[in-house]
Amino acid sequence: MKLWKGRFEKTSTQAADEFNASIGFDQRLYEEDITGSIAHAKMLGRQGIITEEESSVIVEALKQILEDIKEGKVQFSMESEDIHMNIETILTQRIGQTGKKLHTARSRNDQVAVDFRLYLKKETGAVDAALAALTETLAELAKKHQDTVMPGYTHLQRAQPVTLAYHLLAYYQMFSRDRERFADCLTRIDRLPLGSGALAGTTYNTDRQFLAEELGFSKVLPNAMDAVADRDFAIEFLSCCSITMMHLSRFCEELILWSSVEFAFIEIDDAYSTGSSIMPQKKNPDMAELIRGKSGRVYGDLMSLLTICKSLPLAYNKDLQEDKEPVFDSVDTLKASLGIFTDMIRTMKVRTDNMEEAARYGYMNATDAADYLVSKGIAFRDCHEIIGRMVLYAISEGKALDQLTMEEFKEFSDAFDEDIYEKIAVRSCIEAKRSQGSTSFDSVAKQLEDISK
Ligand code: ARG
Repeated sequence: MKLWKGRFEKTSTQAADEFNASIGFDQRLYEEDITGSIAHAKMLGRQGIITEEESSVIVEALKQILEDIKEGKVQFSMESEDIHMNIETILTQRIGQTGKKLHTARSRNDQVAVDFRLYLKKETGAVDAALAALTETLAELAKKHQDTVMPGYTHLQRAQPVTLAYHLLAYYQMFSRDRERFADCLTRIDRLPLGSGALAGTTYNTDRQFLAEELGFSKVLPNAMDAVADRDFAIEFLSCCSITMMHLSRFCEELILWSSVEFAFIEIDDAYSTGSSIMPQKKNPDMAELIRGKSGRVYGDLMSLLTICKSLPLAYNKDLQEDKEPVFDSVDTLKASLGIFTDMIRTMKVRTDNMEEAARYGYMNATDAADYLVSKGIAFRDCHEIIGRMVLYAISEGKALDQLTMEEFKEFSDAFDEDIYEKIAVRSCIEAKRSQGSTSFDSVAKQLEDISK
C-alpha cells in the first residue's frame, strides 16, 4: 500500500512502480535511516510535538526493526518504493496508529539527505582506515629498501638513479594527501539536513540542534532548501575517490611494467596473480590491471553524479534518487581496490639485483658527470654539451660512461681527473643529491623519520 495514495484515483502500473522503486539499492541505508528516525522521534517527543510515550514506543519499535533486519528477518517490498517508506510501513504494521506520527515535521527529502550523509561519514572513515593501512605498508617497505638502487624515469626513459625507498615515499606522499582530502571533504559531509522538511522548513517547533548532537553532526545546514537540494558533498567524495583511484592506477601501471620479463624488478605473489587458459607459462598481474581498469568506472561515477545534478532546478527532484548507485559503486570499488593493492605490495618480491643492474646502464650518471665539470669551473651549458657528445661516443663504443678510459675522458675535456670514476658511480650519484626532499640516502632517512612523527 502506498503511503501517498490519498490524492490518486488510479494506481500506477507495475512497470512504473518498478521503474520508480529504489529499494533494490537504497536498502543499504537501512541502519542510517533507522538511526535518523530514532533521533527524529526523540526530538518530536522532547518538543511535545508527539507525546513522550508515543516517542518511546516508536523508538523501541525502530530498534527492534533494526535488530530484525540485521538478523535477516525482514523482507522489503518494491511496493513501498524505497527504504524510508519500507521502514515506516513496517513500523506502522507493528505499532499501529502511533507509527503514523513518525513522519510529522519531516519529509523524505530531508530524510534521504540525512541518511546519505550519515552513510558517507561512516564510509569516509572506512576509506581512511584502508588508506592508512596502505601508507603504513609503504613506509615499512621504504624502510626496508633504503639501499635498493633503481633507475628513476622521465618519459619512461632512464633518467637518474634513485632508491626504491624514495620511489615508494613519493606514493606515500600522494596517498597521505588523499587522506587529507577525504578528511577535508568530511567536514562538509558532516552537516545536518534533517529538520528541513520538503524544501521550506516546517511549521513545528523542532530542535535541529538537538538532532545534530544526537546524530553526531558538527553543524546544522543553515538553509533548508540547500539542505535538501544539493549533493555537492557526494560529488566531492567521488572526486576524492577518483583522485585516489588515479594514484592507485599509476602505481598499478608501474607494477605491471615492473613484473614483465623486460623489467623484472618485482614478482607479484602467486596469491595475487592468475594464469592463462591457453599459455601454460603465463603469470598475469590481473589484480593490478583490474584496479587500473576500475579507476575508469570510479571516474564514471563522478561524471554521472555531476551530470545528474547539472541543470536541476531547486529544490528536490527525483533525479536525485540516481545519486546513490554511483556512490555505492565507488565506495565498494575503492575499498576493495585499496585492500587488494595493499596486500599485493606487501607480499610482492622485489628483485633488488635487477633494479641495481638496471640503474648502472642508461647513462643515468650523465647529469652527475656534467655537475663534475661544473665543479671544475666550466659553465653548466657547456658541460651539458661536452657530456652529450661523450654519451654519443660511449653509445657508439658500446660502453657505459664509467667504462671509458682516462684518455677517452681527456679527449672531451682536460678538466677530467681520476676522481671522475668515483663521482659517477651509481651510489655516489644518489649520495651527492643535497636539496631538500631529494633521493640521497640521508634525505630519504629524514623523510622516513618525518613521516613516523
Ligand atoms: N527514494 C528517494 C530518493 O532516493 C527518497 C526521496 C523521495 N522524495 C520525494 N519527494 N519523492 O531520492
